[in-house]
Amino acid sequence: MKNPVKSIFHKPKIYFPDDYIKRLRCSLIGEGMLPEENIFQMDYAIKNMPNEGSVIEIGIYGGLSTNVLLHLLSKNNKTNKLFNTDVWIYEGFYDHKISPPKTIDGRDDVLREDYTRYIKEAYLSSIKTLSKNNSPHSFHLSSDDFFEAWNTNKKTTDLFEHETTLGGPIAFAYIDGDHSYQQTKKDFENVMKSLVIGGFILFDDSESTSDFGSAQLVKEIAKNKTLTLVDNRLNHLFVKL
Ligand SMILES: C[S@@+](CC[C@H](N)C(=O)[O-])C[C@H]1O[C@@H](n2cnc3c(N)ncnc32)[C@H](O)[C@@H]1O
Repeated sequence: MKNPVKSIFHKPKIYFPDDYIKRLRCSLIGEGMLPEENIFQMDYAIKNMPNEGSVIEIGIYGGLSTNVLLHLLSKNNKTNKLFNTDVWIYEGFYDHKISPPKTIDGRDDVLREDYTRYIKEAYLSSIKTLSKNNSPHSFHLSSDDFFEAWNTNKKTTDLFEHETTLGGPIAFAYIDGDHSYQQTKKDFENVMKSLVIGGFILFDDSESTSDFGSAQLVKEIAKNKTLTLVDNRLNHLFVKL
């Protein structure tokens, strides 16, 4: 790719012009977790990534970003497969400060395990409703276990009962799971084992003002020049040249 740009988007914040994505935003759980800027970056990565290789998503939650990725793949006539994973653990607002309760923030009568079951079921239902002919290969695994299976070309059955073999080249990875420095670094290193030339990595919660470990990691990646920065208007999108 010639001359990667500092910011590929010249306009101030605008909404991604797509009626279906607008509809998804008010249909799926997790609206507050997917900044509009990420959708522009996903679209750019999908348009420009090589046709060889899979798209990997770490951190599904209720499936808003998954459904956006599936839509952008199909809209751009890309046949790259999407593999994704989540542990569906509840991440409380104050878990880093206090011993986490069994219930969700602000309620003492809703168990975290019931809440995460609801989120996972909502995800499965969203795919069965909105992407039944185009379902991703989804797994209920930590990213470490997912990459273990990926790196050993494990043959397995996904959450939609499709048999599949994991592994092979990666064309685009969206890292949005555990945002601690250690885990984001592990996820990054695992992606790098399989990222093809011309492949992209987008780190959620990596804006320079963020306290997340993912923000610290992208500063290191930018310095080491392992990858080339494509855009950091909010989160960081890199390409491997
Ligand atoms: C911010 S949410 C993902 C939001 C989703 N990508 C979206 O935009 O709609 C983060 C998710 O990562 C999952 N997660 C946390 N640690 C993980 C790990 N080590 N491996 C896989 N998933 C993890 C959580 O269960 C949670 O559902």
